Amino acid sequence: MASFLFSLIAVALSVTSVVAAPVKRSPFAFLQNTRSDSAIFQLGNITYLANIKYPKATLNAGRGPRNDVSDVPVTVLYTNASVVTKDILESKIASYLETDDVFSENFLAGLLLSSTAPGKASVDASATSYIQGLGIEHVVYSSAFSKVGGHGAPSAAYIDIGDSTNLPPGPYLASFSGGSIALSTVYRLYEDTYRDFLYGSYDLNDGNGTHAYLDYSFPSFGYPAIPIPSRLYSLTDTRAMAGDRVAIKDLYDIKGLKTTGGSRAWEYITSPASANAPSIQRIVDQGGVLVGKFKLAQFASGANPWDWQDEHYPFNPRGDGWLTCSASSSGGGCSIAAYDWLDFAIGSDTGSSMRRPAAVSGTYGQRPSQGLMSLEGVMPLGGATDTAGVFCRDPVKWSRFSKAWYTPSLFQPPNITGLSALDVPDNQGYPKTILYPTDYLPLNNSAAQVILQRFISNLTTVFGMTVKEFNFTATVQAAPDPAVNNLTYLSNGPLGVINSYTQWEAVGKPLISAWKSLFNGAFPPIDSARRPGWRRYNETANTAAAYTAAQAAKKLAVDWYEENLQYSTAESCSESLMLFDIGTGGFPSYRELNLNGFPNTSFLATTPKGAAISVANICPIYGCADYVVPIGEVPYFSNVTFITEMVPVTIDMVVKRGCDFVLLNMIERLAKLGVLKTVKTGKTAF
Ligand SMILES: *[C@@H]1O[C@H](CO)[C@@H](O)[C@H](O)[C@H]1NC(C)=O
Ligand SMILES: *[C@@H]1O[C@H](CO)[C@@H](O)[C@H](O)[C@H]1NC(C)=O
Ligand SMILES: *[C@@H]1O[C@H](CO)[C@@H](O)[C@H](O)[C@H]1NC(C)=O
Ligand SMILES: *[C@@H]1O[C@H](CO)[C@@H](O)[C@H](O)[C@H]1NC(C)=O
Ligand SMILES: *[C@@H]1O[C@H](CO)[C@@H](O)[C@H](O)[C@H]1NC(C)=O
Ligand SMILES: *[C@@H]1O[C@H](CO)[C@@H](O)[C@H](O)[C@H]1NC(C)=O
Ligand SMILES: *[C@@H]1O[C@H](CO)[C@@H](O)[C@H](O)[C@H]1NC(C)=O
Ligand SMILES: *[C@@H]1O[C@H](CO)[C@@H](O)[C@H](O)[C@H]1NC(C)=O
Ligand SMILES: *[C@@H]1O[C@H](CO)[C@@H](O)[C@H](O)[C@H]1NC(C)=O
Ligand SMILES: *[C@@H]1O[C@H](CO)[C@@H](O)[C@H](O)[C@H]1NC(C)=O
Ligand SMILES: *[C@@H]1O[C@H](CO)[C@@H](O)[C@H](O)[C@H]1NC(C)=O
Repeated sequence: MASFLFSLIAVALSVTSVVAAPVKRSPFAFLQNTRSDSAIFQLGNITYLANIKYPKATLNAGRGPRNDVSDVPVTVLYTNASVVTKDILESKIASYLETDDVFSENFLAGLLLSSTAPGKASVDASATSYIQGLGIEHVVYSSAFSKVGGHGAPSAAYIDIGDSTNLPPGPYLASFSGGSIALSTVYRLYEDTYRDFLYGSYDLNDGNGTHAYLDYSFPSFGYPAIPIPSRLYSLTDTRAMAGDRVAIKDLYDIKGLKTTGGSRAWEYITSPASANAPSIQRIVDQGGVLVGKFKLAQFASGANPWDWQDEHYPFNPRGDGWLTCSASSSGGGCSIAAYDWLDFAIGSDTGSSMRRPAAVSGTYGQRPSQGLMSLEGVMPLGGATDTAGVFCRDPVKWSRFSKAWYTPSLFQPPNITGLSALDVPDNQGYPKTILYPTDYLPLNNSAAQVILQRFISNLTTVFGMTVKEFNFTATVQAAPDPAVNNLTYLSNGPLGVINSYTQWEAVGKPLISAWKSLFNGAFPPIDSARRPGWRRYNETANTAAAYTAAQAAKKLAVDWYEENLQYSTAESCSESLMLFDIGTGGFPSYRELNLNGFPNTSFLATTPKGAAISVANICPIYGCADYVVPIGEVPYFSNVTFITEMVPVTIDMVVKRGCDFVLLNMIERLAKLGVLKTVKTGKTAF
């Protein structure tokens, strides 16, 4: 790095010479190297990963005392003060500890101190004696300082730390050698005790954007370790997703990792992705951190918990811990409900795969408008029905992330959706009507219905909306055009073709043919959700022409819907907001087959009597935006723990295609008024 004139003073301080009681820090304890040559170590009882192969920064020092030493847990600390005092250091360290779950005082074996104050700064005697008192063994002052009181040589040229983009503040593992300092990013390793992840992963920092999976797990059940970087690394980063910790459904390509789709057979024949999917790259570009791949129902199917073979079904932290995570983005909703150290999880929804997992985990999660996010580099299910969504606990953060993520350059073109180009206004043109479908509501649990009624009354007061009860099924069936009035046909016909053709061509057919030639004509071992359908797949019925015809049939239905059911007016992007429940209606749905089927339990994917289709199919047919929000929780008597537990109550807020941002603005307003709340992790959401 010839552009920098570095020099270093590493002041070795003797702990014994100070008056204050020596600080007890847990020392560095090496555990093992990973296959990507990162180091796993412990400080006390906490396990960390340090990317020692590709350090975040290497600072070259010119002159000054040197001692070669490696594996020093250090803290990079920036202040804007021109005179650094004890009080400033103390409050800075306190604020670092409060902001972050990765940093700890164990990283104060070394200190790199820099000031962003204009002109030269100084460190006064109170600060240097404080540093001595902390027993910090390796102290490096940046060239921002001209004067260091008490000890050290103020005339020395200090090291140029650059700015915080080069080297963000926070904890690092440092190696001092030959006058240079290599600073490696550290990650705290959290245990995935709910088994919601396939594995943790991290950015290798190899200059090519490659990610590596972390080959480390915790006893006794082999819980994967998930590497979580310090929040301090993004303290001065102003990008929309700076420092957001994001888990990814293993359907999306991340450079360097295999996209398995939850199938060991597919994993066997596939290669690591050569690039991030554009939707994932968008997150990286906005400063988000990818922390690992979460579990999904194989090939994004709707498989029930008891039908998973290749993966152990993930656990839901809510209630008795024995509830379903639904499918297919199962590990996404459940990990967001489980872990405070995780901020977002990216999933997908073709038939319900974001919305049901959000409902059963009591988190926020959406099926956005058809076409709102590119699905290039994502294992497909139905090209014209697949959508990408995000889970979160906090409605405001959910909105902020969604708006930054769904960017026009990543909208899908009409030749993918089969629909008109998207127009996504971001304004306060709120709906005037609440559509209440009597064929899908009320909620089955009367205690949950009380919560829904309160929410509806809040909506009417906050937005001045009026409630209109209607029968969804009868309304569609009353349309004169036979091309749009048969829900059974729309659901089984066009949607049936769309939801099988794309995946068959891109995944099923190549997998079956590769397996056949590799293993003596054998059919690949896959979960039962796909086996019969792929075994008997009818290519004569499901042609490219049939797919195009299905897209056209879907477009007719969407056009009808946007004229007759959810339409725009001069004042509203979507004149109505429709409410329904894609979840359990406030009853438990267990991960164990035999616990369901009793009164006051629920199998999820049910169609109420009198309705033609499952409520989940409405937006896959009509392209609408379907956002699941948690509104409360109700008690149930658990047949697993045999005590009373709580199950989340959620509701779907549905608007016309393209009105996502207006709906998000409503959600933010409801959050500010306390109608919608941030949910907690763990057994109870509220
Ligand atoms: C780890 O050590 C800290 C401090 O000694 C203690 O407070 C904490 O409970 C320990 N945590 C675990 C998981 O053992
Ligand atoms: C210095 O930082 C503090 C706290 O971060 C902030 O309140 C203050 O405005 C900053 N001062 C300058 C001159 O940037
Ligand atoms: C980065 O990619 C380039 C070109 O693909 C390759 O030549 C280089 O070796 C890669 N670097 C690393 C560190 O993998
Ligand atoms: C859609 O159109 C774009 C050009 O706008 C083209 O690059 C792409 O290949 C087309 N995709 C399909 C599925 O036809
Ligand atoms: C089912 O739940 C309802 C409340 O929705 C309650 O009144 C009823 O007693 C429950 N039935 C059984 C069999 O637990
Ligand atoms: C929401 O409804 C509850 C119960 O009716 C009421 O106490 C609360 O004030 C309402 N909130 C708003 C913002 O209207
Ligand atoms: C609706 O479509 C289904 C299957 O596509 C068909 O069996 C049924 O007869 C149709 N119903 C009416 C009322 O046309
Ligand atoms: C496959 O579909 C074609 C066209 O719909 C139909 O004629 C044929 O009978 C089907 N084959 C099987 C095995 O069902
Ligand atoms: C609600 O109850 C009805 C009648 O028991 C049932 O048919 C339906 O599937 C239930 N809905 C859910 C989501 O469990
Ligand atoms: C809604 O309409 C359908 C079709 O006419 C009918 O079968 C069903 O019973 C109605 N449901 C309700 C709750 O009125
Ligand atoms: C619990 O299971 C028993 C059968 O083992 C069943 O009779 C009972 O209805 C179940 N209770 C609940 C609350 O699910």
